[in-house]
Amino acid sequence: MEEKVTLSVIKADVGSLVGHSMVHEELLKIALTSLNSAKEQKIIIDSYVTHAGDDIELIMTHRRGEESEEIHKLAWSIFKAATEKAKELKLYGAGQDLLKDAFSGNIKGMGPGVAEMEFFERKSDPVIVFMADKTSPGAWNYPLYKIFADPFNTSGLVIDPSMHDGFIFEVLDIRDNKTIKLNCPEALYDLLMFIGATNRYLVKKVFRKKDNEIAAVTSTQKLSLIAGKYVGKDDPVMIVRCQSGFPAVGEVLEPFAFSYTVDGWMRGSHHGPIMPVSFKDAHPTRFDGPPRVIAAGFQLANGKLIGPQDMFDDPAFDEVRRQTNIIANYFRAHGPFEPHRLGLDDMEYTTMPEIMKKLKDKFK
Ligand code: 13P
Ligand code: 13P
Ligand code: MG
Ligand code: MG
Repeated sequence: MEEKVTLSVIKADVGSLVGHSMVHEELLKIALTSLNSAKEQKIIIDSYVTHAGDDIELIMTHRRGEESEEIHKLAWSIFKAATEKAKELKLYGAGQDLLKDAFSGNIKGMGPGVAEMEFFERKSDPVIVFMADKTSPGAWNYPLYKIFADPFNTSGLVIDPSMHDGFIFEVLDIRDNKTIKLNCPEALYDLLMFIGATNRYLVKKVFRKKDNEIAAVTSTQKLSLIAGKYVGKDDPVMIVRCQSGFPAVGEVLEPFAFSYTVDGWMRGSHHGPIMPVSFKDAHPTRFDGPPRVIAAGFQLANGKLIGPQDMFDDPAFDEVRRQTNIIANYFRAHGPFEPHRLGLDDMEYTTMPEIMKKLKDKFK
């Protein structure tokens, strides 16, 4: 019988060059060597290593299913080894996202971000892996809505018989740690009530309604909730399957032609526009941003990752990049004022308790 393939994307920031800008080449080399040896040992089928800003991205294919202890342990050991190198080079924030000392079977809840899906490979199976820096998992809500629920974005929802029934959104309430499945288009307005609140409700998975086939998955780890204090942004990843019953590649990329507002940027405490960039521009600098996203396209071939194609390396996205810079100027001009600065409850950094303590007797 034909076997399912699992696509696992596991990422972490374990130290950066310079400040929070970029992963050092030596760290990527560690990941590459280790994944090559995992390939030889047949732990994984194939892999691709890259970075989005200061986050190391491990893209792996294998036959071990989601949440495989062996795959998670492999990723953990790479991040541990890379942390050692980061410490040696005194890179900034060495070990930043590794919140636990010892591996305990599943990397979820230990700091790194994880997005995984298992499925039967189609005759031709295009997938796109999106990786963002200086933002948080709520950043995927807007594009996922556009891709899988908005006919003005995705004409396939109207004209492709295999998509016309719509998609099911699985939404996670990160405060109560509960999920709900909403069928679209019927529940569109309910869905939007939730996912418009990008700090609380995250689209975790999307399924094709006709046959429940997995269409998209995101990393939904919130480091600040795991750690109980700010330890860096969650810099999320997302996998989206394309074509033949799923949105076309161009429909999946289309939402990023608009520079929508996300939270993150400087100190994880600001709103700003997201910028789709090519791999070579995935190193945020201005005010540690603006937040950015890269897209690696692959064709799967018996578990092998054919590619990647650098999907935002296209002049068609020049205009949104220009827009992002204009919007960035607009936000920056607010300085420490909202809505550039996040609301009091959402900031990852705050001096408020200390200021309050100091001044509380002066309040009349
Ligand atoms: P092709 O006719 O090139 O397969 O394109 C179909 C499609 O889905 C374009 O988005
Ligand atoms: P990272 O989450 O990418 O490490 O960024 C943290 C930060 O404080 C940027 O200003
Ligand atoms: Mg960092
Ligand atoms: Mg980062």
